[in-house]
Amino acid sequence: MTRFTSDRLLLFGATGDLSRRMLLPSLCALAGDALLAPNIQIVGTARTDLDDEGFRNFASQSLEEFLPASRRGSMSTFLSRLSYQPLDASQEQDFQALAASAGSPANGLSIFLSTAPSLFEPTIRGLAANGLTGPNVRIGLEKPLGIDLASSKVINDAVAAAFPEDRIFRIDHYLGKETVQNLLALRFANVLFEPLWNAAHIDHVQITVAETVGLESRVGYYDGSGALRDMVQNHMLQLLALVAMEPPVTYDATSVRDEKVKVLRSLRKATSGETVIGQYRAGAIASQPVPGYDEELGRASNTETFVAIKSHIDNWRWRGVPFYLRTGKRLPKRTTEIVVQFKDVPHSIFQGRGAQTTPNRLVIGIQPEEHITLSLMAKVPGLDRDGYGLHSVPLAIATPDLFAGPKHRIAYERLLLDLIEGDQTLFVRRDEVEAQWNWVDAIRAGWEEQQMEAKTYTAGSWGPSAAIALAERDGVTWRE
Ligand code: BG6
Repeated sequence: MTRFTSDRLLLFGATGDLSRRMLLPSLCALAGDALLAPNIQIVGTARTDLDDEGFRNFASQSLEEFLPASRRGSMSTFLSRLSYQPLDASQEQDFQALAASAGSPANGLSIFLSTAPSLFEPTIRGLAANGLTGPNVRIGLEKPLGIDLASSKVINDAVAAAFPEDRIFRIDHYLGKETVQNLLALRFANVLFEPLWNAAHIDHVQITVAETVGLESRVGYYDGSGALRDMVQNHMLQLLALVAMEPPVTYDATSVRDEKVKVLRSLRKATSGETVIGQYRAGAIASQPVPGYDEELGRASNTETFVAIKSHIDNWRWRGVPFYLRTGKRLPKRTTEIVVQFKDVPHSIFQGRGAQTTPNRLVIGIQPEEHITLSLMAKVPGLDRDGYGLHSVPLAIATPDLFAGPKHRIAYERLLLDLIEGDQTLFVRRDEVEAQWNWVDAIRAGWEEQQMEAKTYTAGSWGPSAAIALAERDGVTWRE
């Protein structure tokens, strides 16, 4: 792996929403902690016609809105490192001007593309024609990387024509989340779980990513995407891969990604009966009325804002263990969590005394609450004259309480720093993306074949009742 620290950063899509909410705040926070080169030059580019001053004003407003005041200390120094070059990706001369403002990439240049996928190809061509793709340049790519396997291959081929894989950094911002990285620590820095982490002891796994937000002025993008492509293809499959993968030999980009891709390739094609799709109708979130998807969109559509899938990993470790995945917009609360449901004890010695055991369960809260809760059986204190009492009690760790010292960082702080420093461990390799699309495309093809329609659900509910039935059929209840 080429490791070099770049002193230049080129931000495509610099006036976009991601830049405003995440990228500029993350860069300012990193600069404030002296984690970027002191002489770093950050050149923003987009179609918007702005000059340096205009971009700095844009950045300054974004920071005030999205970066806590306590982390804005060095804001004026940070703003002085920013410049701006307007660019229309179809205009060759615009790239010449951009190359002139970016300067020589000899000391390392990192490029971050947060643009519409249709602009990837012309952008890469423009960069290549103007000396911005050499051995000291690496490129970060923000989703969506296509809408299916075929279109993602086109994008990946275009990028590969100018950059080798070890200089391509595909972002999945869930991997930048501290709690997601902690999954690896939980699994592989403890001896307790690994011997039980298999089909002999685990009954099923649930992964939920619930959101309360609706379309959020992303009408154009979202209606062409839907929950399966927007959330399952990337974030949820990455979570699944981290939960299910074999222990990597070392914590490095090759070993970790080798293990993840094996899981992604072992996913069994889901049948239509194993998926449920839904679309929200008007309802209420936190007692506030919200409109339905069709009203927000202004027309009828069959795009799913909710999806539940019963998935299977066809390998030795996970044979017969369903992984239930569920994600949706306008659900009752924002929560991302993983539930690992263990099997019951093979034989209960307490049964003769009327006591029931409840199988152990490990709940890993990713957001907003970060916690790890293991349910254990305990004896209810007493003389047991009316029977032996057993009760499930939680062994609960709220991670923020344990680690009050370290800063709570934005996922993009981690990812941008890794891009600048050249560590690919938390970025998605091409074979992973393609295995993810492969699985998702087959599900979509099944929906089309069956002409499956999204079932409606009321905003503020947990999705269509069919999603509950999908799990209940197996005697499984979603954790809420
Ligand atoms: C994005 C999706 O990738 O992830 C959005 O496009 C979604 O639709 C978002 O809202 C969720 O991210 P987070 O970090 O808020 O869970």
